[in-house]
Amino acid sequence: MAFIFKNLPADRDDLRVDVLSGLASSPKSIPPKYFYDDAGCRLFEAICRQPEYVLCRTEQALMAARMPDIAAAIGPVDCIVEPGAGECAKVRLLLDTLHPTHLVVMDIAGAPLAAAAEPLSRDYPDLAVTALGMDFIHDLEAAMPYLPAGRRLLYYPGSSIGNFPPDAATALLARFRLLAGAEGQLLIGFDLKKDPQRLHAAYNDAAGVTAAFNLNLLERLNRELGADFVTARFRHYAFYNPSAGRIEMHLVSLVEQDVNVAGQCFHFALGETLHTEYSYKFRCDEFSAIAKTAGWQRSAEWEHDGFAIQLYG
Ligand code: AVJ
Repeated sequence: MAFIFKNLPADRDDLRVDVLSGLASSPKSIPPKYFYDDAGCRLFEAICRQPEYVLCRTEQALMAARMPDIAAAIGPVDCIVEPGAGECAKVRLLLDTLHPTHLVVMDIAGAPLAAAAEPLSRDYPDLAVTALGMDFIHDLEAAMPYLPAGRRLLYYPGSSIGNFPPDAATALLARFRLLAGAEGQLLIGFDLKKDPQRLHAAYNDAAGVTAAFNLNLLERLNRELGADFVTARFRHYAFYNPSAGRIEMHLVSLVEQDVNVAGQCFHFALGETLHTEYSYKFRCDEFSAIAKTAGWQRSAEWEHDGFAIQLYG
């Protein structure tokens, strides 16, 4: 049925502004949302097929196995809203069971999102699909005018919430609360704390896909900001930090070097790191406490092989 695609561009040149300020900080860092250019989206999908990175497959298996239960706990829903929907593959299980009238998907990568969302409106003839190319982390509220009235389910799978340190995660969940409305619910999937060797392996796959994903950030800056990073002079370095409960991904400079980005010169000392991502891991109760601070009450929970899905109202 109906398909709408809207690009909601940022009000400033976000990539350039954020990268220049991140490279000027100490330690240097770049927000993980900038991984996802076209090549980055494809590399992320390839990560999800690696034997060591079971996160997406475990979540989908859990969803499929427990769907009757999950659907019963959710009850009737008019609209599903998925921030960071990417390939729009995961939401199909929910569409098949909950039969909402509307689906609103958002992603910072607008063109891949539109390409993935359009087929949904053909496969589900009674569904109105709205795809929003937007940075929902920067301006979630811009999606508000596109949400129909009625019972909303916010769907945030894949442990995307793990990219945010606890304070930022709480803030984002509180904004989800406002977006969902008084009757709204949140179905969220997140990776659990587990054997650190398993976590380490998931971000250090033998085929080197995660390394390519991390280094693609530098290639993107070369392409889009006219930067002159030589990727061979940086090493993908990811490890689990158990005291902080997170995977940390870094690009470590193998030599002393200068790099030019958007007309500015940045110095890297030998061994200096550019931090690119946190991926927080939680215990179930730990996560519920964060969500509670953001105004959500847990109503149900499912768990399998180190991964959890929780429902909130
Ligand atoms: C998409 C944020 C859930 O943190 O596991 C995968 C991204 N980074 N491998 C994650 C990612 C490196 C992923 N999330």
